[in-house]
Amino acid sequence: PVATKAEKDTTPARYAVMGNPVAHSKSPVIHKQFAHQFGHNIEYAALWVDTDGFAEAVQQFRAEGGKGLNVTVPFKLEAFSLADNLSERAKLAGAVNTIRFEVDGKIFGDNTDGTGLVHDLTKNLNVHLRGRKILVLGAGGAVRGVLGPLLKQNPALLVIANRTVPKAKELAKTFAQFGKIEAVGYDELVGKRFDVVINGTSASLKGEMPPLPVNVFAGNAVAYDMMYGDKPTPFLEWAMLHGAETAADGLGMLVEQAAESYLLWRGVRPETRHVIAALRKG
Ligand code: ATR
Repeated sequence: PVATKAEKDTTPARYAVMGNPVAHSKSPVIHKQFAHQFGHNIEYAALWVDTDGFAEAVQQFRAEGGKGLNVTVPFKLEAFSLADNLSERAKLAGAVNTIRFEVDGKIFGDNTDGTGLVHDLTKNLNVHLRGRKILVLGAGGAVRGVLGPLLKQNPALLVIANRTVPKAKELAKTFAQFGKIEAVGYDELVGKRFDVVINGTSASLKGEMPPLPVNVFAGNAVAYDMMYGDKPTPFLEWAMLHGAETAADGLGMLVEQAAESYLLWRGVRPETRHVIAALRKG
């Protein structure tokens, strides 16, 4: 049967975030607010997917008419493998957080995490990275996802610190072609100062913080935690006590990466400031 125009107009375009866990995801609220800005008719669900059921869930969602997906823990690497075509930033990240189903049936994989972080820093927090010294903590998937866009901002130096130093060295090697990047252990940070310190470890999830030396912050330094929660993370609390001028959690990054996904799907970039403010109020 052929849909009439009236029917077409009332059928929402379907999107979702797939993850495990996913129940507490803020993505549905964020994307519904974005759609409201433009009067777009969309549906956005949080879909819990079995750890070994991702590929099947993606195919099913597409078969049901889905237009695009966000992908979160633990499926970003699998989404990368599943994509038929990848954006340059997804290739660099080695992971996919945004899928667009193309009309020819292909899966396009993108990664908006790093761009989201850079947007939050430069546009929302007014922190400019060009010529600055950046310290990134951690060397897992979350960090890999943001190094490309960070280096594109032309910092004077980007240092990756990790407990397991070889993981940091590996990343520095991969990204050396994009800018000045070094890898160190935490003990090697003694005596060094940075303008921007970004926590990309999962320490905050466990109520821990990376073993930073005091005096790591230069004057007017910014501490940024890619995680967020109801209260400041241990890293941000420590940062405020140890000389950081500004402390910001990853809520802005979350909204900005979502805005970049929305742009990929719908061709327009939503306003984010009010959305971030509304989420902060809860
Ligand atoms: P993700 O995909 O979220 O990045 P991951 O790949 O498991 O997760 O990486 C977690 C990162 O957090 C790693 O860099 C880890 O350090 P190690 O590689 O040395 O294990 C880091 N991390 C976790 N807990 C930490 C802590 N308490 N202090 C410092 N680093 C920590």
